[in-house]
Amino acid sequence: MTRYAVTGGAGFIGSNIVGNLVGRGHHVTVIDDLSSGHMVNLNPYHEVDFVNASILDESALMPAFEGVDTVFHLAASVGNKRSIDNPALDSKINVLGTINVLEACRAAGVRKIVVSSSAGIFGELHELPISEDHPVEPDSPYGASKLAAEKLCLAYAKLYDLEAIALRYFNVYGPNQRFDAYGNVIPIFVFKMLNGEPITIFGDGDQTRDFISVTDVVQANIKASEAVGVSGAFNIASGSRITINDLVAHLSDLVPGQPSVSHGPERPGDVRDSLADVSAARAAFGFEPTVDMADGLAEYVRWAITEAKRV
Ligand SMILES: NC(=O)c1ccc[n+]([C@@H]2O[C@H](COP(=O)([O-])OP(=O)(O)OC[C@H]3O[C@@H](n4cnc5c(N)ncnc54)[C@H](O)[C@@H]3O)[C@@H](O)[C@H]2O)c1
Repeated sequence: MTRYAVTGGAGFIGSNIVGNLVGRGHHVTVIDDLSSGHMVNLNPYHEVDFVNASILDESALMPAFEGVDTVFHLAASVGNKRSIDNPALDSKINVLGTINVLEACRAAGVRKIVVSSSAGIFGELHELPISEDHPVEPDSPYGASKLAAEKLCLAYAKLYDLEAIALRYFNVYGPNQRFDAYGNVIPIFVFKMLNGEPITIFGDGDQTRDFISVTDVVQANIKASEAVGVSGAFNIASGSRITINDLVAHLSDLVPGQPSVSHGPERPGDVRDSLADVSAARAAFGFEPTVDMADGLAEYVRWAITEAKRV
């Protein structure tokens, strides 16, 4: 039985990684301060050791990493808007918190860290599909702090006996992704539709996004953790894209009732099109997107209907 630690393991993506690890009989310690995560996400996994602490608390990290082979580092202040609202907290958690995690990895002799990064590091997109060597010009404090976090992990991999892989997720969706003020477009649309509320598409709706199911993001994390002797930063996405109008059409078929859809002005700073080249992750550790968007959305809507009834 291999031991793992997951920072941010009570969150959307973290809890899905925990589910995979526990399902395969591994020992998992979660470190989470529940600032945006929810204990309910971990309810099915009684065997998890849960440490209710911030990654800013160095004294909590070292004991949690004792005997751990791999750390999945997801704890973060997440999202552009949150970082614009509170840039100091964003950097504190994403940069200083990551240093704390790295120092604890070093002290505990952890073999590998897999850190969640973001396509937000690229900023304005100049060419599609986006490969790893696309210029990185973040246009929010969040993009900048996630870039710093991945660079710190890669620097530690050069300095110390620690392998590091940064996974740059594009737009992730799936079970345990809740609607909140900082939410992504899919939970916002689905929960509004379920509540019979109107939805607003910013701009003409022909802008495109590369959405990836959390199932494939979990696969990327597991494969990255298993790759021996690999350090680096990799795009993680489906490698295909759909328009927001097509997304709404798919969701309208899945959610009961007809949604009321309006168009608002384009949001400043939103990219027009997004599409990732995932060939580097495929070559380095065998990542392969598997979930068809129609199936992934159907799974998400099933989860959201149950969730909407629960709260
Ligand atoms: N959801 C996406 O589309 C997406 C895209 C790109 C990157 N990411 C990255 O993936 C990771 C997970 O994001 P998510 O979407 O699951 O968000 P989430 O908010 O559901 O998860 C983040 C988790 O970290 C915890 N956390 C926050 N600050 C903490 C701290 N100081 N100490 C301990 N725990 C703390 C939260 O309570 C939460 O459980 C993040 O690093 C995020 O930057 C997500």
